[in-house]
Amino acid sequence: DGLFTVSLIEGDGIGPEISQSVKDIFTAAKAPIKWEPVDVTPMLRNGKTTIAQETIDSIERNKVALKGPLATPIGKGHVSLNLTLRRTFNLFANVRPCRSIAGYKTPYDNVDTVLIRENTEGEYSGIEHVVVDGVVQSIKLITREASERVLRFAFQYAENIGRLKVRAVHKATIMKMSDGLFLGTAKRVSKDYPSVEFDAELLDNTCLKIVTDPTPYNDKVLVMPNLYGDILSDMCAGLIGGLGLTPSGNIGDECSIFEAVHGSAPDIAGKALANPTALLLSSIMMLRHMELNDHAQRIETAIFDTLAEGKTLTGDLGGKSKTHEYADAIIRRL
Ligand code: IPM
Ligand code: MN
Repeated sequence: DGLFTVSLIEGDGIGPEISQSVKDIFTAAKAPIKWEPVDVTPMLRNGKTTIAQETIDSIERNKVALKGPLATPIGKGHVSLNLTLRRTFNLFANVRPCRSIAGYKTPYDNVDTVLIRENTEGEYSGIEHVVVDGVVQSIKLITREASERVLRFAFQYAENIGRLKVRAVHKATIMKMSDGLFLGTAKRVSKDYPSVEFDAELLDNTCLKIVTDPTPYNDKVLVMPNLYGDILSDMCAGLIGGLGLTPSGNIGDECSIFEAVHGSAPDIAGKALANPTALLLSSIMMLRHMELNDHAQRIETAIFDTLAEGKTLTGDLGGKSKTHEYADAIIRRL
């Protein structure tokens, strides 16, 4: 039927409402996507959090999924489902672009950063133990293999989008062995991409410089270990107005999951107050990943024009519109 099937994880809280906006806009734009809703209610198997086999099969079969926010359980014995998904499908690179939105005023009006985060190890390895009471160790696991994989991805991504500068962000002055391995691997891998300029920067310095003036970062792809990418990507999101406006893509060799990084906002769930922009922009990334560039471009332009006009914004952006009113305004511009 000429349609591409995509697994859809609507998510918790506001997830179903913002997913509805994506579905409505895709239908109106005649995007050739057929949604296959999947259930990711966590299950315990052999003491590990996991998801239903049917869900795993769906994502493996379709190779692409779109995901709304999932509530993260806090405390011992609960592993975040977000992390379970990344691990289950070996989604080793997390791509997080941040671009200023014309209709939303922040102290910065020309941010355009691209950050790639290693997505499988580092402090997220989940290896922790109590040595004696009052003393714990959490292992930051860095391997040459995972570092090289995400670094090669970053260089190839840079070539693909024509942003021919890659900067590794690290703290090898202190984390001599782990970040040293990441940085050393970056230097070695960079030799294989002579058309891409390579340099490196200490994470604290990146933070200082990027909040002072983000523009020198507009021509670079930043690549870094997992936790640094988690923190720095939120900081970049802060420069443009928050997590409600930034997309994210978890990329693996076999499949990819595109997701909104913001929370499930249970306090406003079901009230049609949620802003679907982050999930929408993630779905645009998804369309480009699937090489449906024309549809991606058309929907993206409609989103940015609607935001720039500023008449139909949701409450978080200072407007009074409901979720579906904002989506309808985008649809009118298609
Ligand atoms: C993110 C989130 C996740 C993370 C949480 C929800 C586990 O903050 O995608 O950045 O820490 O990676
Ligand atoms: Mn995060």
